[in-house]
Amino acid sequence: VHDETAGGSYEELRASFTAAVSHDLRTPLARVLALLETALLPGTDPRQLVEQAREEVEQISELVDDVLFLSELETGREVVSLGSTRVEPIVRDVAEQLGERAERADVALTFQVEEGLELPLRPRMLRMVVENLVENAVRYAGPRASFALTAGHENGTVVISAVDDGAGVPDEELLRLFERFYRGDRVRASRGTGLGLAIVKHVVNAAGGSVEALRSSGGGLEVRCVFPS
Ligand SMILES: Nc1ncnc2c1ncn2[C@@H]1O[C@H](COP(=O)(O)OP(=O)(O)OP(=O)(O)O)[C@@H](O)[C@H]1O
Ligand SMILES: [Mg+2]
Repeated sequence: VHDETAGGSYEELRASFTAAVSHDLRTPLARVLALLETALLPGTDPRQLVEQAREEVEQISELVDDVLFLSELETGREVVSLGSTRVEPIVRDVAEQLGERAERADVALTFQVEEGLELPLRPRMLRMVVENLVENAVRYAGPRASFALTAGHENGTVVISAVDDGAGVPDEELLRLFERFYRGDRVRASRGTGLGLAIVKHVVNAAGGSVEALRSSGGGLEVRCVFPS
């Protein structure tokens, strides 16, 4: 399934975007407010409440960062496509960073990067792509699933492929995964904003590449990022 940007007016898109961000900000903000009010009551342990409030604020900052990053991307190609970055060190870093979470989720991760491979992206952007793909597998593939990230030349292009054999998504959802704020029916109860793959798409597009999501041969999800070589 190839990704095709949906039609609709820019104003409509902007309005729904703003509404969704406001909604996602309001929930943690309300929790912070409740925690602060509780801390003022006599006989409560403010330290624990402050710690909880700090976590909520961190979540808010992450969302704001993602939104700012996305709008930065949308204003210009040069923000992203400057420079060239070796893929292997970044993948190794992300693998280390997410290894523990993957173990807890019982998802086996493997990584295979062509030696010396570079991509026309700044390090932060490349990291963003790899992180999002691995994190999604850890979150959604389900226990006993395997995930493999491979990067290398394929038929005159450079491909980053993220494949798992986990829960996957129904075929009719595949087209929508790259939309901002889109989350699958099955995962709505879990934390997440639905921005990860939208960001992946923008970064890859900005580097002149394209993205697609398909059912993997193992019945899970495959996300492919294809760059001109
Ligand atoms: N490996 C996967 N297996 C099954 N479903 C997936 C996988 N990766 C993504 N999805 C589905 O695609 C949706 C969109 O993913 P995306 O990364 O854009 O958002 P998110 O993970 O929900 O939130 P965020 O990344 O902003 O924290 C997910 O909510 C999930 O339904
Ligand atoms: Mg995600």
